[in-house]
Amino acid sequence: DKSLPQPIRIKLDEVGDHIKLRKADSEEKGTRVRVLGRVHRVRKQKENMFIELRDGYGIMQVLLQGKLTQTYDALILARETSMEIFGEMYEVPAGANAPLNRELHADFYKIPSNWRAAGGEDAITNRVQPGTEHATLLDLRHLTLRGDVSSSVMLVRDAVEYAFNQAYKESRIRKVSPPALVQTQVEGGATLFKFDYYGADAYLTQSSQLYLETCLPSLGDVYCIEKSFRAEKSLTRRHLSEYTHVEAELDFIDFNDLLNHIEHMICRVLEIILADPAIAEKVMKLNPEFKMPERPFMRMKYADAIEWLKEHDIPNEEGNPHAFGDDIAEAAERRMTDIINRPIFLTHFPVEIKAFYMQRDPEDQRVTESVDCLMPGVGEIVGGSMRLDDYDQLMAAFKREGLDPAPYYWYTDQRRYGSSPHGGYGLGLERFLAWLCKQHTVRDCCLYPRFMNRCKP
Ligand code: 4AD
Repeated sequence: DKSLPQPIRIKLDEVGDHIKLRKADSEEKGTRVRVLGRVHRVRKQKENMFIELRDGYGIMQVLLQGKLTQTYDALILARETSMEIFGEMYEVPAGANAPLNRELHADFYKIPSNWRAAGGEDAITNRVQPGTEHATLLDLRHLTLRGDVSSSVMLVRDAVEYAFNQAYKESRIRKVSPPALVQTQVEGGATLFKFDYYGADAYLTQSSQLYLETCLPSLGDVYCIEKSFRAEKSLTRRHLSEYTHVEAELDFIDFNDLLNHIEHMICRVLEIILADPAIAEKVMKLNPEFKMPERPFMRMKYADAIEWLKEHDIPNEEGNPHAFGDDIAEAAERRMTDIINRPIFLTHFPVEIKAFYMQRDPEDQRVTESVDCLMPGVGEIVGGSMRLDDYDQLMAAFKREGLDPAPYYWYTDQRRYGSSPHGGYGLGLERFLAWLCKQHTVRDCCLYPRFMNRCKP
């Protein structure tokens, strides 16, 4: 109808004075808009059709009435069909509910034939159903991503990644982008992905830490948000083969500075994301019990954790009581964290169970200045430490681990040209999200998860 006002194109979450809502019994017109999106849900009620239209920004309730419900397109309308809709914005009537308390009364819509979604047997609701096995859902990840939960987690993820960048910027920590293709290991040979690099052996990086350390002399404190790769030959709910690693390295600090910084970053990122009402709403919907962590985080030495595990009859992997020197396995770590039920900085792990580059505790040479940050429901989300800054001690550590120091010349040189007390950490973004969004597994916290035997879609 050419006599109607020209519509304005809006996203479905758009609000403001430029979008007026007509009140139920008012003559004053609402704004005429043009919206584009996909049918999230559709409901028929007598003569009316209610469509929830989704565009990735929001959901809008659209009302089709009269002739508009009688077209061929309306009669076969399947979920996920794309639509262009024109109409007038109304307040929802008293007693009814709709997102942002408004609905669009359509006066016209278009569905080009190739915008139609498959219906009948092939309808999306037949392919992705409640109770479908997780493996099938992962095969259909391109479709499950359209669901409320998956898309909410991805939107929170976007906010978290952005917040890390903002929080680092506030602390004047500079972003760099280290290489993913490397010829050195950081976290042990067992989880290296090896490949042929023009005839030479190379690996997908396990961590950007060593490269970050080389940036300190010229750039000051640095961070990166890059992919790390681990050939984890087991299936757990918190291990991926490819994950997003938030890593930082800080110059001229001591161990206590490192712990305070990690605590600050975690809390600042939470503060930033929760300041956005749309993100806060998504977090609270995914994780209704979420509370800001209390500061300071609990600090517990490894040796005390071993005592705690013994007192609580939580055995080690062999089924025996824990003893000093044991690696605290995933199950035990998570049980402890769940019982204590608050973030824990677990510190001072024995030299033997930690990486070669870690500084020893000056007060107790058996242990390192290392930290894992443990969160209820997930366990370890951060691993960090002070680094060996003495050349001879670093060389001794290579020897102890049976590592040839030659390929690490660029790393060991740091100790020959102006060494410094420094330290850093890595945070697994998917684990942070699993904790924040109360997801059972990190596999649901990345776009297309990669883990043992899965490299598709
Ligand atoms: O404890 P990790 O192995 O420490 C390092 O890589 C250090 N070089 C980081 C540093 O100091 N710059 O890994 C750090 C974090 C873990 O706490 C965990 O959150 C995550 O990375 N992570 C994984 N996340 C998903 N899948 C995996 N396979 C992971 N391995 C580690």
